[in-house]
Amino acid sequence: MTAASSPGEAARSAVAEAARRRTFAVISHPDAGKSTLTEALALHARVIGQAGAVHGKAGRRGTVSDWMDMERDRGISITSAALQFGYRDAVINLLDTPGHADFSEDTYRVLTAVDAAVMLVDAAKGLEAQTMKLFAVCKHRGIPIVTVINKWDRPGKDALELMDEITERTGLTPTPLTWPVGIAGDFRGVLDRRSGDFRRFTRTAGGATIAPEELLSAEEATAREGDVWLQAQEEAELLTETGADHDQESFLGGVSTPVLFASAVSNFGVGALLDTLVDLAPAPAGRPDAEGAVRGLAAPFSAFVFKVQSGMDAAHRDRLAYIRICSGVFERGMVVTHGRTRRPFATKYAQQVFGRDREVVDLAYPGDVVGLVNANALGVGDSLYSEKPVTYPPVTTFAPEHFAVVRSKDTAKHKQFRKGIEQLDSEGVVQVLRSDRRGDGSPVLAVVGPMQFEVATHRMEHEFNAAVHLDRLPYSLAMRTDAESVPLVSASGGTEVVQRSNGELLALFTDKWALRMLQQRHSTITLEPLVAAQL
Ligand code: G4P
Repeated sequence: MTAASSPGEAARSAVAEAARRRTFAVISHPDAGKSTLTEALALHARVIGQAGAVHGKAGRRGTVSDWMDMERDRGISITSAALQFGYRDAVINLLDTPGHADFSEDTYRVLTAVDAAVMLVDAAKGLEAQTMKLFAVCKHRGIPIVTVINKWDRPGKDALELMDEITERTGLTPTPLTWPVGIAGDFRGVLDRRSGDFRRFTRTAGGATIAPEELLSAEEATAREGDVWLQAQEEAELLTETGADHDQESFLGGVSTPVLFASAVSNFGVGALLDTLVDLAPAPAGRPDAEGAVRGLAAPFSAFVFKVQSGMDAAHRDRLAYIRICSGVFERGMVVTHGRTRRPFATKYAQQVFGRDREVVDLAYPGDVVGLVNANALGVGDSLYSEKPVTYPPVTTFAPEHFAVVRSKDTAKHKQFRKGIEQLDSEGVVQVLRSDRRGDGSPVLAVVGPMQFEVATHRMEHEFNAAVHLDRLPYSLAMRTDAESVPLVSASGGTEVVQRSNGELLALFTDKWALRMLQQRHSTITLEPLVAAQL
């Protein structure tokens, strides 16, 4: 690839390259098989030679994404990044999301940067709590969802029962593209509902290589599998009768969800998923700005920061801002404008990052994710552009549910303390709230999940060399308020008013009863809810 030589050419290549992109994330409950599926996808696209080398959990080989001891000890993935690979003629961007519920805010931010989501469901467990939460976020954002029923090689629920569960719990109409032949645990393969063919499932040892998917005609399948195949055919007909056939418009409109049956650990169904993404998932489109006006793909370069991260590992102690490109062509080295400060930002160090693997990016297009190195000025939600200014909608901050006063253990480390707190705030690791009552030296940290406190404490000590004490506060609820309401809120028992770094005022309450009491007493007071983690 070479850099575009004229604006017209750049616009044309932005549009053409965007059409080849598929940018998505996997949403699932921990243990449904997200890491396994990610490995299998990468293996399929031949990014790496053997499953396990990209990503994994405690004890697995090449646990690339566990950049912190804490993450490794617990076997959870906190950081997120993007994996890019070619498949057929398409370029796939798979954005990684942290699995643990305490980091749902991070996942939410990642979901602002995708065009589609894969909802991964454990065949034995069905729709679990975290899947439902993330599903709600996708629905709220109107992100089309492809459903993958995983672990079909193991005993699990009945396939039709799972379809009912999807309908009842998500309101989406499941439209299976494949249908299992053999019950969960006796996986013979799948019936491809569009061609009527049989894709036979063959096991491979540990899923380390791509399972050969043998394609048989319906006649061959009948001869081979007998009644089991005929039953799958009957069920597939039943699905057609009940209107469960794929419909592109209703999929893109978030009304239906194509369903695939898979065994990620054996790499079965992974090729079908990639084909589905390429054939059906939407390519990047022009993105609405904060006023709702769409900036087309052909417009000059623009992007927004959806994640900021630092201290990824000892070898790279730097700060990375991940941007999702929305329009135009990104060329490394170009000088763009940072919307919030209107200052120029030089993109000399641009990388693609997945786990510990980094590659320099020279050119990128709408839908792509680029990690900008040493991007100290960039915060989550910031817009970047060249030529024509644009401000993308701010990335929503979740309503925090846990609060703690943070103090430096060593008062001599005041500078390090301040710097660390500021950085954690702009990265969105925690929300930092200031209160007049407590002063600058002891701000209030607010989080959605308590594990975020652990990350903050760990990083303050190890990265900023400023060990901290946290004193938990008894609040569990935050509401947006205004300056006029402050005296009344402050005078009420069990509440406190604090200020976000963007100037917004928040009233903190111990529980909803304290809030209700205040509302009953003063009906004119301004108290607006923030976006809740459980939408
Ligand atoms: P997560 O990232 O969603 O949390 O899940 P992960 O991929 O780590 O998978 C959780 C467990 O489920 C792993 O087993 C994994 O091997 C298993 N698994 C994933 N996909 C399939 C599948 O299609 N079939 C079967 N039978 N198992 C699957 P583990 O015992 O926790 O880890 P490991 O020792 O196997 O690595």
